[in-house]
Amino acid sequence: MSKHPAGGYLAAGGYLAAGGYLAAGGYHPAGQKELHSDWAIIAQDQLAEECRKTESLSQLEELRVRTLGKKGQLTALLRRLGDLPSEQRRDAGARLNHLKQSLEAILAARAEVLEEAAISRRLLAERVDVTLPGFQVRVGHRHPLCRTLEGIEDIFLSLGFDIVEGPEVEWDSNNFEALNMPAEHPARDMWDTYYITERMLLRTHTSPVQIRTMKTRKPPIRVIAPGITYRHEAIDATHMDIFYQVEGLVVDRGISFANLKGVLSLFVAEAFGPERITKFVPSYFPFTEPSAEMMVSCGLCGGEGCSGCGHSGWLEIMGCGQVHPQVLRNCGIDPEDFTGFAFGMGVERIAMLRFNIPEIRLFLENDSQFLKQFP
Ligand code: PHE
Repeated sequence: MSKHPAGGYLAAGGYLAAGGYLAAGGYHPAGQKELHSDWAIIAQDQLAEECRKTESLSQLEELRVRTLGKKGQLTALLRRLGDLPSEQRRDAGARLNHLKQSLEAILAARAEVLEEAAISRRLLAERVDVTLPGFQVRVGHRHPLCRTLEGIEDIFLSLGFDIVEGPEVEWDSNNFEALNMPAEHPARDMWDTYYITERMLLRTHTSPVQIRTMKTRKPPIRVIAPGITYRHEAIDATHMDIFYQVEGLVVDRGISFANLKGVLSLFVAEAFGPERITKFVPSYFPFTEPSAEMMVSCGLCGGEGCSGCGHSGWLEIMGCGQVHPQVLRNCGIDPEDFTGFAFGMGVERIAMLRFNIPEIRLFLENDSQFLKQFP
């Protein structure tokens, strides 16, 4: 045996039969043949058995290295084939190669089994427990400004008004001229205007939508014009250069200031609650005559006076007035036949009063800490 380390190696490695074969092949050619045909089966059985015992792919890999690896047992045997006498070499070579193929097949089959087991284990470990409580999904909600705008629209819709819209980029003629403010009229200074060209601008109010309406519809007219407006304002807690307005217009026969007061008082009762009282303070707009500011009693102090209302007890909520006869004339409506009233309010301002929001810029910041306070 000492002359045949492969045999000793095999004996130590466990393939006694195979070792025996080679040893026998080397030294005792006669009388050992039967044993030769058996050892391959025994070696195969042994390996199959060992293979079955492996519990992981790494164990299986160890086994493969131990047998078929570069320094593996079977590899060593194959290398030593050359030691055999040539008449035995062919036979032994065929057996060894057959054994090698069998071993490879056995290893591959076991690998498949172990891989599947590994996948099942992983699936089991990663299984989702559908009985666990779910994550709470935060549902979004309407922006406080949208809610305010929709609230205003609903009130006027219920009073029989239509909603009309117009472009944000307007002609000077609709934004100013038809509203009784020809070029160079000093009243234009009431609106700090973003001009696009000499004749085109970003509308400073939605009053031009009323002009467009009067030019295309015949009285009776009962509309509100909601939309975005622009003014070149110095931005602070109560002023932005972009904001929403809702303006309204009623034109029909016999429309008086009493109708204006009636409709707007109804609006305030609906929007702010019936306990709030209102008053009209004389004012000036080039397109209405007479003109007024509508005031509503402060909701924070109930009219007593507090820091929220500048200690006056009153909050200004909109401009309004009887449509100026010249404006009707500009739109082809005979002021002898028809009269009307108009009003205009800032939606941000209404929302600030409704929700007690002290800072107009919050509306555009999209800070969820702010927004989620108005579910
Ligand atoms: N257009 C005016 C403004 O934007 C508001 C207004 C509308 C006033 C209608 C009176 C009548 O300031």
